[in-house]
Amino acid sequence: MRGMNVLVTGGCGFIGANFVQQQRRLYPQDRLIVLDALTYCGNLRNLEPLSGDRGLRFVKGDICDGDLVGKLLLEEEIDAICHFAAESHVDRSILGPLPFVQTNVVGTTVLLDAARNAGIGRFVHVSTDEVYGTLSPSDPPFTENTPLAPRSPYAASKAASDHLALAYAHTYGMPVIVTRCSNNYGPYQFPEKLIPLMILSAMADKPLPVYGDGQQVRDWIYVADHCAGIDAALRRGQPGEVYNFGGRAECRNLQMVHSILALLHKPQSLIRFVADRPGHDRRYAIDCQKAEQQLGWQARWTLADGLVETVRWYRENPAWCQSVQSGEYRTFFERNYADRLVTAKEVA
Ligand code: NAD
Ligand code: DAU
Repeated sequence: MRGMNVLVTGGCGFIGANFVQQQRRLYPQDRLIVLDALTYCGNLRNLEPLSGDRGLRFVKGDICDGDLVGKLLLEEEIDAICHFAAESHVDRSILGPLPFVQTNVVGTTVLLDAARNAGIGRFVHVSTDEVYGTLSPSDPPFTENTPLAPRSPYAASKAASDHLALAYAHTYGMPVIVTRCSNNYGPYQFPEKLIPLMILSAMADKPLPVYGDGQQVRDWIYVADHCAGIDAALRRGQPGEVYNFGGRAECRNLQMVHSILALLHKPQSLIRFVADRPGHDRRYAIDCQKAEQQLGWQARWTLADGLVETVRWYRENPAWCQSVQSGEYRTFFERNYADRLVTAKEVA
């Protein structure tokens, strides 16, 4: 019997690429088809360890392209979809919300519609704890029943896509599962997000910009643990259900920056307090008991160990860091692996 054929959207981004690499290790009998538009943060170099893997196909294309998505689902006999593709950076959404509405809301709906037409057996919609809004210091962590109260254009676009995903499950009986995770960190994260930005800046003795008073709290999860959660949702999740994932590791931003500086033996004088993010959410924290009890999932990495591993990865992968910082990554794969590159035009 053949394994599953899984469409992974956004598989060249940070979490998607970690997920693809993890899936190929765990389920060599499955086939993965990565659909990614290679936006500014999509990096084919993130899949370089899998180059030559015959169980992986890469297609460069946009999830908003309904014809392409529909053809791919049929042509590749897709059994399941893991949907990571998104505009994911809050600061960019504040500067310009429209691409977030286009990819996160319209793109997700195009994908849901194509999946419905093709009768796909499983659709995991990867979402975020930011849809729940913000917490005060004494509030209990977010559960799956916390009302949605997004506060940034990014979070609002993800909340809209969550509503659509669950509406497709309810209205059409589609086997859609929604996952909501806290802040990820680990290898291959684009250095616009807090942890990789601070690591690369500190390594280069550049200033580290801390927004506002730096007392905002995030609940950090090592990316491999999030990927294991998505895998559990894909294989054991109940259609129509939402599962939260988190690391049970709340940390203030300033504390995080101090930890990174200490690991790199760099001085705290590199820290610069800068203007706060408009509408900055003060605290996120996730209650992930449901996933622990119903999916048999558990976060394995402590924040201390995950941070050591992450700092080690960025130090030991200067070629990746340089190619991202110089912009070379945008043409890397085409130049090196053009023979295995499939474009949307070829599929269509
Ligand atoms: P990322 O920004 O690193 O990667 C996004 C990927 O999607 C990129 O490869 C990009 O090229 C691709 N993409 C963007 N628009 C596309 C389009 N229209 N068509 C096809 N591909 C497109 O994001 P990430 O941090 O890996 O996040 C992945 C998912 O997980 C997102 O849905 C995000 O909302 C969610 N999430 C992220 C975190 C986190 O801490 N990073 C936490 C919880 C949930
Ligand atoms: O909670 C999950 C979310 O986590 C995901 O859905 C998002 O895709 C992901 O980007 C992340 O959102 P945040 O806004 O929490 O992550 P970011 O790394 O941008 O910022 C983390 C915290 O650090 C936040 O409080 C803002 C602050 N910060 C960030 C940057 C980039 C700074 O103080 N300085 C910075 O330069």
